[in-house]
Amino acid sequence: MTANLLGKVSLVGAGPGDPELLTLKGKRCLEIADVILYDELVNGELMKHAAVNAELIYVGKKPGAHCTDQKKIAAMLIQKARAGKYVVRLKGGDPFIFGRGGEEAQALKRAGVPFDIVPGVSAAIAAPAYAGIPLTHRAHASSVAIVTGHRALASEGSVNWSRLAAAVDTVVIVMGLHNLGAIMTGLLEGGCEPERPVSLIQWGTRRSQKSLTATVATVAGLAAARGFTAPTTIVVGNVVRLAEQLDWFQPRGEKSQPWSSDSQTELHAGSPR
Ligand SMILES: C[S@@+](CC[C@H](N)C(=O)[O-])C[C@H]1O[C@@H](n2cnc3c(N)ncnc32)[C@H](O)[C@@H]1O
Repeated sequence: MTANLLGKVSLVGAGPGDPELLTLKGKRCLEIADVILYDELVNGELMKHAAVNAELIYVGKKPGAHCTDQKKIAAMLIQKARAGKYVVRLKGGDPFIFGRGGEEAQALKRAGVPFDIVPGVSAAIAAPAYAGIPLTHRAHASSVAIVTGHRALASEGSVNWSRLAAAVDTVVIVMGLHNLGAIMTGLLEGGCEPERPVSLIQWGTRRSQKSLTATVATVAGLAAARGFTAPTTIVVGNVVRLAEQLDWFQPRGEKSQPWSSDSQTELHAGSPR
C-alpha cells in the first residue's frame, strides 16, 4: 500500500492456529500492509499473505513482562502509523478476547491514530469446536462464560470461581493451565460436583492438537502426568461429554479432508507444528 501522510492501524485477529481460520478481511489486511506486528501464537504460515516488501516485526511477549512490552508495542504502532504506514497488528485468536486489543485501541485513540478492528476466531470457541465440544447445546448448556485463569487465587481482577460454578453451565478458561489445581479447588468450593466433566485442549486447531477428558476432581493430576503445556484451553461443563460422539478432527492423521491445511508452520523455533 502506498504510504499516506497519516497511516492507519488495523487490529486483526489471526484466528486460533489453523491458517484457514483467518477471515477474508484479515487476509486482505495482510496483503496490503506495510508493516505487520505479530504475536507469539500467530501461525507463521499466515505471513505468506504479506507483500514481499512488508516489514514483519515479532512482538511476542513473555509472561511477567506485559507492562513494559505493551507500552513498547503501542509506541511502535503509533510511530509507524505517524510515518504514514498501513500497520497490521496481528493477534492470536480475536483481538478483543483476552488479547489486550482494547488497550492498544485506547492508546491509538489517545494518539489520534486512525484504527479499525478485524475480529478473529477465538481459540476459546475454536479449540473446543475442534475437540468436538459445542459450548452451548439445547439439552446440556444454555449459558457460557469465557474467563481467564491467569490469576487463580483471590486477588484483584481474579475470577470468583465459587460463584461461577453455580452461575454458568459451560466455563471456558484461557491462560489457566498453570493454576489448574487452584481453579478446580475454587470450583469445588462453589458447589461444583467433583464428577463435572473437564476437557483440556492444547494447541487447538493445529496438527499438534492434543486433548484430554477428565473431571473437576481428576484433571489437575492427569494434566501434569500427560505433560500439558500452554497454550491450552480448559472447558468445564456437561457439554464436554459430547466430545465422545462429536470428536471429528484428526490432527496427526492423514490429510483426509479437502480443506485441511497441509502445512501449519510456525515462524519460531520451539513452536510445535
Ligand atoms: C493471551 S490469551 C489470547 C486469546 C486470544 N486472543 C483468542 O481469542 O484466542 C492466550 C490463551 O488462549 C488460549 N489459546 C490460544 N491459542 C490456543 C490454541 N491454539 N489452543 C488452545 N488454547 C489456546 C490459551 O489458554 C492461551 O494461554
